[in-house]
Amino acid sequence: MSLVEKVNITTGTGWSQNLCVGNTGPVNSVGFPSLCLQDGPLGIRFADHSTAFPAGITTGATWNRDLMYRRGHAHGLEGRLKGINVLLGPCMGPLGRMPAGGRNWEGFGSDPVLQAVAAAETIKGIQDAGVMATAKHWIVNEQEHFRQSFEWGLPNAMSSNVDDRTLHELYVWPFAESVRAGLASVMCSYQMVNNSYTCGNSKLLNGILKDELGFQGFVQSDWLAQRSGVGSALAGLDMTMPGDGLRWMDGKSLWGPHLTEAALNGSIPMERLNDMVTRIVAAWYQLGQDTWAAPPPEGDGGPNFSSFTNDETGPIHPGSDDKTMAVVNKFVDVQGQGKDFHGRLAQQIAAEGTVLVKNEDDLLPLTPQGRSGVARSDKGKKFRVGVFGEDAGPGRGPNVCPDRGCNQGTLASGWGSGAVDFPYLVTPLQALEAKFDFNSVYMTHFLTNNPPIETSPSILADQDLCIVFINSIGGEGFIASDGIRGDRNDLYAQNDGDKLVQTVAKGCGRGSGETIVVLHAIGPVVLERWADLPGVKAIILANLPGEESGNALVDVLFGDVDASGRLPYTVGKSLADYGPGGQILYYPNGVVPQQTFSEGLYIDYRHFDKHNIPPRYEFGFGLSYTSFAFSNLSVTLTKPITPLPSPRPADTSQPPSYDPTVPDPASALFPPHFRKLKNYIYPYIASPTAIKRGPYRYPAGYTVPQPRSPAGGGLGGNPALYETLAVATLTLTNTGARTGKQVAQLYVEFPAGVKEPETGEAIDFPVRVLRAFEKLELGVGESKEVRLELSRKDLSYWSVRKQNWVVPVGEGGRGRIGVSVGASSRDLRLWGEMGVDGWIHRLLDE
Ligand code: BGC
Repeated sequence: MSLVEKVNITTGTGWSQNLCVGNTGPVNSVGFPSLCLQDGPLGIRFADHSTAFPAGITTGATWNRDLMYRRGHAHGLEGRLKGINVLLGPCMGPLGRMPAGGRNWEGFGSDPVLQAVAAAETIKGIQDAGVMATAKHWIVNEQEHFRQSFEWGLPNAMSSNVDDRTLHELYVWPFAESVRAGLASVMCSYQMVNNSYTCGNSKLLNGILKDELGFQGFVQSDWLAQRSGVGSALAGLDMTMPGDGLRWMDGKSLWGPHLTEAALNGSIPMERLNDMVTRIVAAWYQLGQDTWAAPPPEGDGGPNFSSFTNDETGPIHPGSDDKTMAVVNKFVDVQGQGKDFHGRLAQQIAAEGTVLVKNEDDLLPLTPQGRSGVARSDKGKKFRVGVFGEDAGPGRGPNVCPDRGCNQGTLASGWGSGAVDFPYLVTPLQALEAKFDFNSVYMTHFLTNNPPIETSPSILADQDLCIVFINSIGGEGFIASDGIRGDRNDLYAQNDGDKLVQTVAKGCGRGSGETIVVLHAIGPVVLERWADLPGVKAIILANLPGEESGNALVDVLFGDVDASGRLPYTVGKSLADYGPGGQILYYPNGVVPQQTFSEGLYIDYRHFDKHNIPPRYEFGFGLSYTSFAFSNLSVTLTKPITPLPSPRPADTSQPPSYDPTVPDPASALFPPHFRKLKNYIYPYIASPTAIKRGPYRYPAGYTVPQPRSPAGGGLGGNPALYETLAVATLTLTNTGARTGKQVAQLYVEFPAGVKEPETGEAIDFPVRVLRAFEKLELGVGESKEVRLELSRKDLSYWSVRKQNWVVPVGEGGRGRIGVSVGASSRDLRLWGEMGVDGWIHRLLDE
């Protein structure tokens, strides 16, 4: 490829200049197409006839690896059929440091291991369908306020300040597992880390991502997250998106012609440009995309939908002054057919991602005839059910607000680039109407948060059962609605939902009726205003269920499937209970707003455990309709425990090498009679006169080779980190009266008193950390053996001093690592510990 051809691959054509949210330039001479990059993590943004899957947070709540994979795969297939090369997901950052964070719902939960497992399964699923996955947002992109400068009227974006150990043990962890899964692309985030913009931060891109984690794919910028030209190229950025410069559609790319210039004047070595291009083109081959049909005029490949119009015919360069029209929407139905219809999968995920947290007097599951097990004195009369709340119904339809940016109707998605157009949305009311047997049940509904209770008290007094629906939304920071700019302002139910629950629970059946609360939310909601009211018998946290919302809810409400969702975050009793580190920075505190992660490792349950704060419902918690016993925990050490892994392996392969000669500037000029479109980004330069040739004077130190990370050497890091050091086995038995699913959760407890040998510095550990889990289905009385593997990394901490993962036992036989297994982070049933001398099993309440 020529210089301009190479540059074309690295630079987007500019916002809305082609049909996808991101488009690279093609290289026609070698048949390399323009790549279509499209959001997002839960379906295909701006597309028709495609599935609105449950959100990441709902998928995390399933704790079901198989469903995580299948969701990714179905998403990948849909992308493939729409002609998408690169899907902009999964999202694994924000991790969920702040429960009010606007985009936590796009990811899978506030724990690095849960997040990592779900991300890796999703990536394998997407990429097995031939589409490149993007792990985003790298990194410590935890809040929406001030993530960018221009959205917030500030000269600079905020800086997330984080220490090296916290970075490794929490925030990088899911990315490491993503790289290990064969990930094609990483998106660097908008904000700064330790006061350098992420997309220009060499330590984070060249250092941690590419050297230490061995990432072989390409780094793309978030949309306008690139803030420097030469600097970001040298720091390890490989692709700029959407290609514009510092502002949308300004036509002043920081790369494009400037990257060409920089290569010509030597400020960016040809090796670096060749490396960028190799990473992108190799990923394309790796995923087999060279076998796809070519785009027109050669073939009928390429994107078959437009992000910018819903009409069949539309502009092919919507953002430019070009008026050429073509068929841009072919309305290809990618939702799967028959038993492979993706709606069925969406329903299954939403049902398993529904968390039952309270079920007094076995109110649930319901029966189509109403409430089971209640002898009705007034037989002959129908069982009366009242449904309350706007969240039970359709509102003005699921797609009325752009990018789902408002709270109306039933909530099934957060808002922003991670949202999609619903092809349909089954509301809770619709599904309840289909499920109840109206020969026995009389159902009324009030799809408002202000039912006319004052004027018609009978609407509550007459009910046997009340089902109240409430919600809480937020999303990406470019949308503001009802005073919420991305991040939520508090953790309460919105639109007076808490008051609605109080009113209904007190008045239902004149106080003797039973109330079920169903909550749809983008994250944790404080339930204290009503959770203990005597009328509130059941609480269901249904997260963000996607298009099959009502059907999935009814599956759980009526027990057609077990309640098997488990919380992917802690539900605290107040926002303050999450600690200072859990609070959004709502007001800028400097020219570069500073947010320092002083809490270190102590987020979510790690914070609650450390400070002994009782949550309302802990991380990992959720009820089933049956009960389970855990027994026979034993751990086998498969290798002798040594503090350090074997050394980083020698390189087994070399990157390809190319001719590094800088070409003649004349080769980079606009071809004669070239028709330029307005704001479209081209790689060509206008004149060779600006090019100063000759050796470029890099800053002192630039050529000093940096030591390679001792933790690197393979995908995700040194392969020795992923060797299994211990295998835990236990028996799980269904002791209840029906088939059900349980998640065996394994938490590791590191020893006290650990010190860095060289410095004597104390190494503090969380009380316990999740390291492995498995979800199993068991019939009545059935037992199964659960096998959970622990890698060296699972049993290590990140030593800042050694820049390596260290198992804090071994030397001299000091210390033991505790292993506990149970049904949540606080419902631990089995416990034991291991050291160099083996495994000791201690009973808890087996
Ligand atoms: C978001 C990304 C998204 C991109 C393209 C950005 O504002 O942060 O997550 O992929 O837009 O829509």
